[in-house]
Amino acid sequence: MTSTVVLGMQWGDEGKGKIVDLICPAFDAVVRYQGGDNAGHTVKFGDRHFALHLVPSGILHPGKSCVLGNGMVVRPAALFEELDGLAASGVDAGGRLFVSRRAHAILPPHLELDAAREAAAGDGKIGTTVRGIGPAYENKAARLGLRLGDLASAALEERLAPLLDHLGGELERLGRPRPDGAALLDACRGWAASLDPLLADTAYLLNDWLDDGRSLLFEGAQGALLDLDHGTYPFVTSSSTTTAGAGVGTGVPPGRIDGVLGILKAYTTRVGTGPFVTELEEDHGEFLRRRGNEVGTTTGRPRRCGWLDAVAARYAVMVNGVDAVALTKMDVLDTLDEIRICVAYRIDGEERRQVPATVEELGRAEPVYRTLPGWRSDTVGTVDFDRLPAAARSYVAAIEEEVGAPAAIVSSGPRREETILRPGAALERLLPAGAVASVRAAIGG
Ligand code: IMP
Repeated sequence: MTSTVVLGMQWGDEGKGKIVDLICPAFDAVVRYQGGDNAGHTVKFGDRHFALHLVPSGILHPGKSCVLGNGMVVRPAALFEELDGLAASGVDAGGRLFVSRRAHAILPPHLELDAAREAAAGDGKIGTTVRGIGPAYENKAARLGLRLGDLASAALEERLAPLLDHLGGELERLGRPRPDGAALLDACRGWAASLDPLLADTAYLLNDWLDDGRSLLFEGAQGALLDLDHGTYPFVTSSSTTTAGAGVGTGVPPGRIDGVLGILKAYTTRVGTGPFVTELEEDHGEFLRRRGNEVGTTTGRPRRCGWLDAVAARYAVMVNGVDAVALTKMDVLDTLDEIRICVAYRIDGEERRQVPATVEELGRAEPVYRTLPGWRSDTVGTVDFDRLPAAARSYVAAIEEEVGAPAAIVSSGPRREETILRPGAALERLLPAGAVASVRAAIGG
């Protein structure tokens, strides 16, 4: 039995979708534990190209079970749209997608409130995905929210009333109309009927599967620096994106989680506002954006780009207990003469190797760089680590040294086949017994 968490070590968009797609055949089920359709994974395989927001990319593998855990916030209409899109591409999720009754529902007024707040905040906005994520989690914490299992309740109307009253008041204060309660009640009843075959008590399901010796892959969304507690607050998402969130968000106790694979992009990107110490403004930023195709999967917004921030990545290794790293998009750097890694911050004249707690301090941080030579050759599609140019191998070694975790996987292109699996204990520990060979066979190695 192996249960492994895969999560992003930066501000999201690290390329988790590809890595989950690659290793998930080795697991019995793929489980999401936080967030909602603010996430977006792009998975490319052969000529097919999927953008998934709620459903784990494991669904693309016939027979694989997928679970949306209690820690998620789910917009029912978004889920049905995604399932319809999958069905149209010949992917049948029937009988293998299980959605927690305890996951909270995102309702249309949550999206309206998210948009109204962002518009009212002007320059101070968070830059959210406007999917209603923050308002839905806020109502959950205030004990006003509706869970997916509540939508079928005989007392739905009474449960909805205080929530609508609250959301209506918030919207009105921002000059927006109150939601239409009767229309929403009808919509909720419709969603309840469609959700019924998907809903399950997923904490029991997952723990039973573990008792039976099945292996679970927990798929994080967003990234460690967007975690509500550990991220660059308040420029964060509203859920626990870190390893501990997998316990809270599924009902699988932390002791049953065996390992953590952190996904680290070879440079840094961020969508939305908030401090970004290594951000590159001019030509280099534009170069990474263009070569790395750095445009949001969910929002279509261009991503802010910069050098790898090893101070932040080291912190992500610590708070998540990252056992090994999958390094992604290194080929984007192929043509550069030199490459930089931020190894410390200089704040008010003092050099620091820790991420400060306040955004004010982080906003004043100047990067202290370690500069490495580029390799100036095409590495796309490399499958053997030893065939990488010496300077590329040195870049990987420098990252390992600076972040404090081994790079067990190096991705050399967007396709499944374009991947280097590095032999050794780190990967063996993160995959079920014997799985390294089957993953290697799947990429043609
Ligand atoms: P929210 O999750 O929509 O509330 O947005 C809060 C912050 O998280 C914003 O900076 C978003 O751009 C960011 N964010 C949310 N989801 C993702 C994601 O999947 N990738 C990258 N950034 C994200």
